Amino acid sequence: MTRIAVFASGKGSNFRALVEAGKAGAHPGEIVLLISDKPGAGALDIARDCGIETLVIEPVKPRGRLDETSELRFLEACRERAVEWICLAGFMRILGDRLLAGYADRVLNIHPSLLPSFPGLDAQTQAWEHGVGVSGCTVHFVDRGVDTGPIVLQRAVIREPEDSAADLAARILVQEHLAYAEALSRLLTGAWRRQGRRILFDPFMTSNTSQSEDKLS
Ligand code: GRF
Repeated sequence: MTRIAVFASGKGSNFRALVEAGKAGAHPGEIVLLISDKPGAGALDIARDCGIETLVIEPVKPRGRLDETSELRFLEACRERAVEWICLAGFMRILGDRLLAGYADRVLNIHPSLLPSFPGLDAQTQAWEHGVGVSGCTVHFVDRGVDTGPIVLQRAVIREPEDSAADLAARILVQEHLAYAEALSRLLTGAWRRQGRRILFDPFMTSNTSQSEDKLS
C-alpha cells in the first residue's frame, strides 16, 4: 500500500471518494492523513468518521499561496508519517517550492474543467458562462502554477442545453470522484513516464514504483 496524505479545504467529497475507492480496492493507496487549512472543513469530519488522522494547519493569510512556515509544517507532517504521495482535493492553496521539491512528481490535484481551459476558481461556472458544449475534469500533477501541471487523466461531461451552472458542476463532480481514483490507480500500479508535459502509460508493464523520465519543473 502506498501511504497518501490528502490536503482539503472544503466539504471533502473527493476525499471521501478516494477513501472509499481505496477500501474497495480500486487503487492501492492508503490514506493515512488529512490536512486542512480550514478548521471548519467538512473533510475533517469525514476523516474522523473514517478513522483517518486529521491535522489543521492554518496559514497566516486566509487564502492564496502557502507561506513558508505553514508549508514547512505541511511538509514535516507528511514526512513524519512516511507519506509517499500527496493528493489535493479541493485544497484552495498554491503550494510552494519546498513541498513540490520534497514530493517531486508525487503531488496530484483534481480540477473541475478540461484543462488547460478554465483554470482557477469557479471553473464549472466559467465553462458554463463561456457556453461550452463539453466540459469535464482533469487530474494533473501539481507544479508552481495554478492548475498548470502535466495532465494525468481527463473525463468529459456534456453540457445539456437545459443545464444550469450548478447542474453542470454536479455532473462534473460525479466524474471527478471516478477520475481521481482511476488516476491514482494507474500511477501507483502501472509503469508510466513523463515526456515533456505528456504522461505516458505503458499498458504492457506493471510496476510498483512509478517512473518519471524527467522531473516536473
Ligand atoms: C471540486 O470540484 C474540486 O475539483 C475543486 O473543488 C471542489 C472540491 O469539492 N478543486 P470537494 O470538497 O471534494 O467536495
